[in-house]
Amino acid sequence: RKDILGLQNLSAEEIGLILDTAVPMKEILGRAIKKVPTLRGRTVVTLFYEPSTRTRTSFELAAKYLSADSVNLSASTSSVVKGETLKDTARTLVAMGADVVVLRHPMAGAPNLLASTIPAAVINAGDGAHEHPTQALLDMFTVREKMGQLAGLNVAIIGDILHSRVARSNIWGFTKMGARVRICGPATMIPPEIEAMGVYVCTRMEEALDGADVVMMLRIQLERQQQGLFPSIREYARLFGLNRKRLALARPGALVMHPGPMNRGVEISPEVADGVNAVINEQVTNGVAVRMALLYLLGGGGMPDA
Ligand code: CP
Repeated sequence: RKDILGLQNLSAEEIGLILDTAVPMKEILGRAIKKVPTLRGRTVVTLFYEPSTRTRTSFELAAKYLSADSVNLSASTSSVVKGETLKDTARTLVAMGADVVVLRHPMAGAPNLLASTIPAAVINAGDGAHEHPTQALLDMFTVREKMGQLAGLNVAIIGDILHSRVARSNIWGFTKMGARVRICGPATMIPPEIEAMGVYVCTRMEEALDGADVVMMLRIQLERQQQGLFPSIREYARLFGLNRKRLALARPGALVMHPGPMNRGVEISPEVADGVNAVINEQVTNGVAVRMALLYLLGGGGMPDA
């Protein structure tokens, strides 16, 4: 397999291989000197058409820890603003020696287009509301590390499902690995086709939280809301915000997750975000390990053919 474009097209075995490969990568992160020569001579370029803190920085660090050369390109400071197309931009990067291109783009399917255009490996770092596979992989890694397994767990994904590529990738990933996924949010933010992905839709947050092993809160994507779809922020927080009282409905020891960035006081209260159940900072650390695993597997370590 040349590229990682989404979890819809990865098998449970492939997901398991990536998670297993991230285990020794996390061990490297715990060392005083976090650098191994594995990808020396390889070049990783991150090409981002949307803002990012976690994904872009963790890919850059992952490449550096594996001794690859890494270059970051933002569309806003590149020749994209002069009208250069995505394909031409990517071909230019390949002509300069890029072996792996990590792409974030507002259009669903942009990484697939790129993967069929350039010989370099393409990793989807988020495409529109379609998929964010590396986020879901780090989420699954975190849950497996904490709970010991994924199969049989009850995973509640709560919030703005309509605009969430994180939700879609996590639904594909967790269901393939044998977990049961429930989703919840305002009716206007639940896309009708979501039930066909094998999830149970809850209209009330209390129902979604009841007996959940994992509670994944999603950011309200205020920048993508259309007029009329969104209640007031105060109303949203009242109906769908996670606070300590609501968290008590979940299983004792349930994990509280958030892909970030968080709207504190909207989808999650500060006391829950900073509480003992939260694994939000561990998700970020694990993101580096999982992205190291992906760079290793695509950069020569051996991702099996699809
Ligand atoms: N979770 C996530 O994708 O965060 P960034 O937008 O900061 O990369």
